Order: sequence, then C-alpha cells, then structure tokens
Amino acid sequence: MEMDMGGPGYDIGILAHVIGILLLAGALMVQVAGTLLLRQVKTIDQVKLVAGLLRRTPILFGAAGGLILISGIFLSYLHISEGGAFGWLIVAIIVFLGMAAYGSLNGRRFDKQLGAAIAQSGDKVTPELTQYARDPHQLSHAIVSGCMFLDIVYLMIYQPNLLVSIAVTIGIIGISWVMSYPTPDKEK
Ligand code: HEM
Repeated sequence: MEMDMGGPGYDIGILAHVIGILLLAGALMVQVAGTLLLRQVKTIDQVKLVAGLLRRTPILFGAAGGLILISGIFLSYLHISEGGAFGWLIVAIIVFLGMAAYGSLNGRRFDKQLGAAIAQSGDKVTPELTQYARDPHQLSHAIVSGCMFLDIVYLMIYQPNLLVSIAVTIGIIGISWVMSYPTPDKEK
C-alpha cells in the first residue's frame, strides 16, 4: 500500500485481482458448506446431490486462481518496477501455489473415493459410503485452505518484511493444521 502506483493499468489489475479473490472466497464457502452438508445427509439422493455440487467447485477454483495469478503477476511487475519490497510477495506466491496444489490433490482424491463408494453402494447409504461422506480429513483440508487464504490476505494488505511473512505464515498454517486435524474417536 505504500507504493503510489496510480494509473489505469494498476486499477484494472486490482479490479481483476479483487474479482478473482471474491470468486475464490465464494468457491471456498461452497466447498466448506458442501463438506458440512455431506456429513448430515440421510438418503442416497442427498449424497449424490451434494457430491455433484462438490465435483463442480474445481471449475470455480480454476477460474478464480487463474484470474488472481494473471492479475497478480501483472501487479507484481508494477510493484517491483516501482522499487517496492517483495519479501511478502515471495511468501504469498509460495502459499498460493501450495494452496492450489494442496486443494486440488485432496479434492481430486476425495471425489474419486466418494464417487467409487457411491457406485458400489447399490443406491443405499451403506456404512462405507457414510464413512467417506463424513471423512473428517476433508473438513480439515477445507479449514487449512481457508487459513492459507487469510494468510495471503494478511500478506497482501500489510506487506511485512520477509522474516515476519515467514513467521506469520508458519504460525497460521501450523495452528490451523493442528487445531483442525481430526481425532477419529470424536467422529460419530
Ligand atoms: C488467495 C490469493 C490472493 C489474495 C487473497 C490476494 C489479495 C490481495 C489484496 C486484498 C490486495 C490489495 C492490497 C491493498 O492494496 O491493500 C492485493 C494486491 C496485490 N497482490 Fe494479491 N492476492 C492473492 C494472490 C496474489 C498472487 C498469487 C500474486 C502474485 C503473483 C499477488 C500479487 C499482488 C500484488 C503485487 C498486489 C499489489 C500490491 C501493492 O499495492 O503494492 N497476489 N492482493
């Protein structure tokens, strides 16, 4: 924020960036809501409905991520060419790419497992299907991804130096991981 980067290029870059951020926040909310809903479903139709919704979120994540990345690279070019410090930017890009890899790997694996369990269920909510639908790891992945998102928002707005950026990032991701990691006994 300390840079004065006026001009239409910067305004368009920020606008595209913010549209991407809102899309990403929306996709994250759908993901968390779907994951929570899946834990409450009673009938096979409900399972299929929510699983179908969750299978579509990658399109939203992809569109949002692409827009954020393209506008972010453009804004980075402006920021660095104006002599701005970029320790926070390096950490934010690493967290952003980590979030994309973490989210898509977990999401793909979950969709595959749940899809296979639905196919084998014979149109009944079997105990195996319930187990996949209520997989507590899925919820913790969504929470950790949400905290990565908040970490990036913090880095983008406050633009701290490299050391503070690394410390805050490790703190936020570490705490969200430890706090959300499921203990199987608590699952009903
Ligand atoms: C989840 C991902 C992201 C979020 C939530 C996010 C959020 C934001 C926000 C809120 C701002 C406005 C900050 C302000 O003016 O106070 C901003 C600016 C910016 N973002 Fe991002 N961003 C993300 C990803 C990225 C990525 C991947 C890059 C680089 C490739 C990037 C580069 C930048 C740059 C260079 C600025 C302008 C900073 C300045 O005003 O000097 N962002 N971002």
